[in-house]
Amino acid sequence: MEKKWWHNKVAYQIYPKSFYDTNGDGIGDINGVIEKLDYFKELGIDILWLSPIYCSPLADQGYDISDYYNIDPRFGTLEDLDRLIAEGKKRNIGIVMDLVVNHCSDEHEWFKKACADPDGEYGKFFYIENHKDGEPLPCNWRSYFGGSVWEKLPGHDDKVYLHVFHKKQPDLNWENPKLRKEIYKMINWWLDRGIAGFRIDAIINIKKKLPFSDYPADRDDGMTSMNNMLAEASGIGEFLDEMATETFRKYQAFSVGEVFNEKDEELPLFIGNDGYFSTMFDFSAELIEEEMTPDLYKNAIFKAHERVEGIGFLSNIIENHDEPRGVSRFIPKDALSDATKKMLAAIYFLLPGIPFIYQGQEIGMENLDSVNDLNELDDCANADIYENAIHEGLSKEQALQLLAEKSRDNARTPFQWSDGANAGFTTGKPWLMINPKYTDINFASQKDDPNSVWHFYKDLIALRKNPEYESTFVYGKFIPFLKRQHNLIAYNRVGDKHIMVLANFQKDAQTISLPSKIKKVLLTNVSKTPDNFSSTSTEIVLSPYELLVVEMV
Ligand code: GLC
Ligand code: CA
Repeated sequence: MEKKWWHNKVAYQIYPKSFYDTNGDGIGDINGVIEKLDYFKELGIDILWLSPIYCSPLADQGYDISDYYNIDPRFGTLEDLDRLIAEGKKRNIGIVMDLVVNHCSDEHEWFKKACADPDGEYGKFFYIENHKDGEPLPCNWRSYFGGSVWEKLPGHDDKVYLHVFHKKQPDLNWENPKLRKEIYKMINWWLDRGIAGFRIDAIINIKKKLPFSDYPADRDDGMTSMNNMLAEASGIGEFLDEMATETFRKYQAFSVGEVFNEKDEELPLFIGNDGYFSTMFDFSAELIEEEMTPDLYKNAIFKAHERVEGIGFLSNIIENHDEPRGVSRFIPKDALSDATKKMLAAIYFLLPGIPFIYQGQEIGMENLDSVNDLNELDDCANADIYENAIHEGLSKEQALQLLAEKSRDNARTPFQWSDGANAGFTTGKPWLMINPKYTDINFASQKDDPNSVWHFYKDLIALRKNPEYESTFVYGKFIPFLKRQHNLIAYNRVGDKHIMVLANFQKDAQTISLPSKIKKVLLTNVSKTPDNFSSTSTEIVLSPYELLVVEMV
């Protein structure tokens, strides 16, 4: 594999609205990120991905952009961003922006012009179809947030436009070369400003299966999940290759795709040498629909990494702004503790690929325990989850409980800086509720405690970057160990060194035979410190929920 500058980096996702508010309006801002740059430096972060901060009506929290060339005043100004880029550079931290180009906002001037003249130049930037009341819609696709993907074009009773997300997010028509050119121009404008690259939003949706057609209904609303269309759409590669050539490749920019449903044969094109993207997220564990177990989790992430071995790099996550908190999802409720949070951290962090930390993960932030009222939350996707639950026969309380487990707002509650007012996030009124657990889980209480989750993340990053082990962690082979052993998640990383990650994901001890003797303990989540651990045989007993990262003889 050709070496690239991003291969050994550690990335962190900021959800700016909830990160740190410096002017008391209850909304996190760019200045808040600047103020915390030393926080990232101390942790060991190299790349900061900011969820969207462009001008936006915030119908979908900035994933609905009304001006690609400016910053929303609630987050700050272009000058603030330039300062963030410059201050980041001083600390060797690259800034990565979110690239949202499957759709824009209905308040973007392109869409306004399209409404004014659907047959004109900007009408062709979107998917606009003729439609009369009473007639069937162009197709029965269900938008990701619920309801039809078709909406009446404002001012035109006889026309509809396509939105696969919210109705305030009209899809851009990538079949139109003029639109594509506008997008590339915009991307390069940002790269020229000095950002390190982009996280590329919802990109798999840019290729539609045309002409529009129905798929079998999969709920009794008569509609069909977008996945059915995506499985049949082909030819996205031409758009992605063109975009990469016109933009990222010219700048050696880092690009990480939000990619789903890619086919095996497409992998080298997506993330191989000179692929469309530097890397893409591994969502295999996030996509598990059954009740989570350690074995399901293991099988998903192992399979994903075996699939790309020798081809390219995945970006590893346990959560993001679209998912509930990873510790609440992957660790059984009765086992949730600092020790298990650390275990989960090491398991995913030392896999091949680029580790991403989502804000708050490094202090072990958890889901909400309960939701009392739909109005306590904010996300535009909540209504569909709630209504569907009621429709399926759940009570109001059960539907709210489901939101406490599933809502994207779990990841969006403000960062818990301290146990003070509003968790130290703002001096004003926070835009979204603070998770009541902030009194126990916050950065201030962890920063001076060497046994805290936060320190464990710091140690984990330091270990991955330790010059003695770095090349093994970055380029070493990934070889699963005792894959079929129930509740054991274990693997080898083999390069200059032989490292093993061993996690006993259960409440009973578990004995295993190692392929050789342990030379050195590099990291653990138990009081057994690296210095006092000695093993004389290759057989070891892992205590309940014990994690060991070891160098082998
Ligand atoms: C991506 C984003 C999500 C957003 C959607 C539409 O999945 O991560 O937050 O709602 O795209 O832009
Ligand atoms: Ca603010």
